[in-house]
Amino acid sequence: MSTDFHQSVVILGSTSGIVRATAQAYAAAGYALVLAARDEEENECLAADLRVRYEVPCHALHFDGTDVASHEAFVTACEAALGTNPTGLILGFGYMAEQEAAQTDIAEVQKMVDANLTGAISILERFAQVFETRGSGFMGVLSSVAGDRGKQTNYIYGATKAGLTCYLEGLRVRLFKANVTVTTIQPGFVDTKMTYGLPLPGPLVASPEQAGQAIYRAVSRGKDEAYVPFFWRYIMMIIKAIPRWQFKKMSM
Ligand SMILES: NC(=O)c1ccc[n+]([C@@H]2O[C@H](COP(=O)([O-])OP(=O)(O)OC[C@H]3O[C@@H](n4cnc5c(N)ncnc54)[C@H](OP(=O)(O)O)[C@@H]3O)[C@@H](O)[C@H]2O)c1
Repeated sequence: MSTDFHQSVVILGSTSGIVRATAQAYAAAGYALVLAARDEEENECLAADLRVRYEVPCHALHFDGTDVASHEAFVTACEAALGTNPTGLILGFGYMAEQEAAQTDIAEVQKMVDANLTGAISILERFAQVFETRGSGFMGVLSSVAGDRGKQTNYIYGATKAGLTCYLEGLRVRLFKANVTVTTIQPGFVDTKMTYGLPLPGPLVASPEQAGQAIYRAVSRGKDEAYVPFFWRYIMMIIKAIPRWQFKKMSM
């Protein structure tokens, strides 16, 4: 299978619960795909599954977000696999350390900064250049509602996502002139291995499938920002509106 597919997407972090569901939505819509992840065996299984179920070209490539020296070659490998540069990109890899571990172990902080900020910026800048030069493209990037306001329960992870959201705000303005859309995805709670074992309020937790569909729709519409599920926009409006004197007394 190859190249009479007009649309293609590179999916970074494809072994993530949310991102694999997003990849499925793109495959169902007839996109050719590159799935990129560290775990090559699992990634190849995911690619084989999409090839069989949706009859689309689906290539599995090794990708480590923190190995920034490999990112230039990765862009070339995507072009070689697809036979052309991709139409767009979904970035979903990320790392969340436990808050208490991050407060005492700077190595955990570094892991989050390396993956969620340095690694993300490194690969996004490379694809930004490709899309900007061509004058078209889309980028959907998974940030987090945790970046909207620092909470005592996860402000270190939240700080890396706040940095990513701020970065995307500027990238969007730059790429708008080149007809490239940048969608910041703000998931709330989604049931994945990242949140496994956390005490989450059931009704507010989305399934990875719901999140994947919502991400596909938001990015396809070229939205600037999408809360996933949508009601998190209103939850975060309320949380951001709580005055500091009151926020300090709360346990969140
Ligand atoms: N679940 C939620 O409630 C929630 C809420 C807000 C935002 N998010 C964000 O959504 C995204 C997806 O998370 P998820 O919930 O689907 O969690 P997940 O299932 O734990 O997925 C995280 C993924 O990131 C990958 N990854 C971590 N570091 C990497 C690196 N250096 N290079 C390449 N891949 C790397 C992991 O790969 P390995 O398997 O190789 O470790 C894994 O596939 C993350 O950016 C997360 O911050 C999630």
